[in-house]
Amino acid sequence: MTKLKWGMIGGGEGSQIGPAHRLGSGLDGLFEFTAGALDHRAAEGIDYGQRLGLGDRAYGSWQDMLAGESAREDRIDLVTVATPNSTHFEITKAFLEAGFHVLCEKPMTMTVEEGEEIVRTAEKSGKICAVNYGYSGYSLVRHMKAMIARGDIGEVRLVNAEFAHGHHADAADADNPRVRWRYDPAQAGVSAQFADCGIHAMHMASFVTGQEVTKLSADTVSCLDMRVLEDDAMVNFRMDGGTVGRLWTSSIAIGRQHGLGIQVFGETGGLRWSQEQPNQLYYMPLGGRLQVIERGEANLSPEADRTTRVTIGHAEGMPLAFANIYKDLAEAISARKEGRDIDPAANLYPRAEDGLRSMAAVVAVAESGKQDGAWLDARPPMFQ
Ligand SMILES: NC(=O)c1ccc[n+]([C@@H]2O[C@H](COP(=O)([O-])OP(=O)(O)OC[C@H]3O[C@@H](n4cnc5c(N)ncnc54)[C@H](O)[C@@H]3O)[C@@H](O)[C@H]2O)c1
Repeated sequence: MTKLKWGMIGGGEGSQIGPAHRLGSGLDGLFEFTAGALDHRAAEGIDYGQRLGLGDRAYGSWQDMLAGESAREDRIDLVTVATPNSTHFEITKAFLEAGFHVLCEKPMTMTVEEGEEIVRTAEKSGKICAVNYGYSGYSLVRHMKAMIARGDIGEVRLVNAEFAHGHHADAADADNPRVRWRYDPAQAGVSAQFADCGIHAMHMASFVTGQEVTKLSADTVSCLDMRVLEDDAMVNFRMDGGTVGRLWTSSIAIGRQHGLGIQVFGETGGLRWSQEQPNQLYYMPLGGRLQVIERGEANLSPEADRTTRVTIGHAEGMPLAFANIYKDLAEAISARKEGRDIDPAANLYPRAEDGLRSMAAVVAVAESGKQDGAWLDARPPMFQ
């Protein structure tokens, strides 16, 4: 496999998510960090890019990068969009139209209409548009999906997912500009906590069960009075394979750190996984004994085997989950270049369609919350 060229927009010095993308894309030696427009301030972006070794492919803006890379024969193969949310649509659309494969941070867009446009643009361009629901890259999440697909827990009856933290619980800190914007509709859109965190849990419910959310009912609240948007939500949902879904998300849950977790209950067994202990998957077969499946142990699924790198008993964490999304994308891009089929165990990266479905769910949660929990269609018009 030839080394692929990778570029990033956003993810500048001091950003939250930029380092995880650089680590993830670089881990397996499949991508070379080649170009970037890393900061909203041109000079700082160029300076940081040059310090990271990008030379004259450190650009001052994404528009310069688009023009510069489009003009080159050795243009980048994949660009990651890791800028703030409101810029994702414009940048992703422009790069897809210019013929680049894109990995866009979540949320992919700010509206359902924009999401549909990205899906259409990706289809028209024939390019990959992936969305970084990076937690779906964890090895044991992949294994959970494989176990459910091969029938280890029978027909799935119920999914219980949550993503709760307590980092916005302090009323004295609520006016801090770094916190406040998240609850301001003008800057955050229609939803705060569900759009930021709850949506990861909902995506994971779809990812592991292989089912899509069809309708939902939400109870959204702002536990801190000064907030317009919700800091806590309880969402009930139904999936197209008949599964019942329950989801809790919160930013005021003091003592919770990064509490993304999922439990799936079927006719003949149950599974439980938690992001803070990602190297263990709990499996209870009906009438049997509780089993702890360890990441890296023998006889796991091909999907788990290809996404584990450190020997059993050594912790693997979030940057390696991101690395698995990049590993999938490297395989998908290389398969296209070489005119062969993609390894099925790699064909699991989240797509633009997932970004669109998520946006429709976010809008439905916000609207249902306003309507006292009315059950609403959670599907984008394109998929109704
Ligand atoms: N998938 C995940 O698990 C996950 C986790 C955290 C953040 N995110 C997403 O990643 C994105 C970035 O979040 P963050 O926390 O790193 O933000 P941040 O504010 O820490 O960093 C944003 C970076 O983008 C740069 N930037 C802003 N506008 C730009 C532009 N027009 N051109 C080039 N660079 C620009 C800024 O200078 C900064 O370096 C958000 O969309 C967020 O939702 C995803």
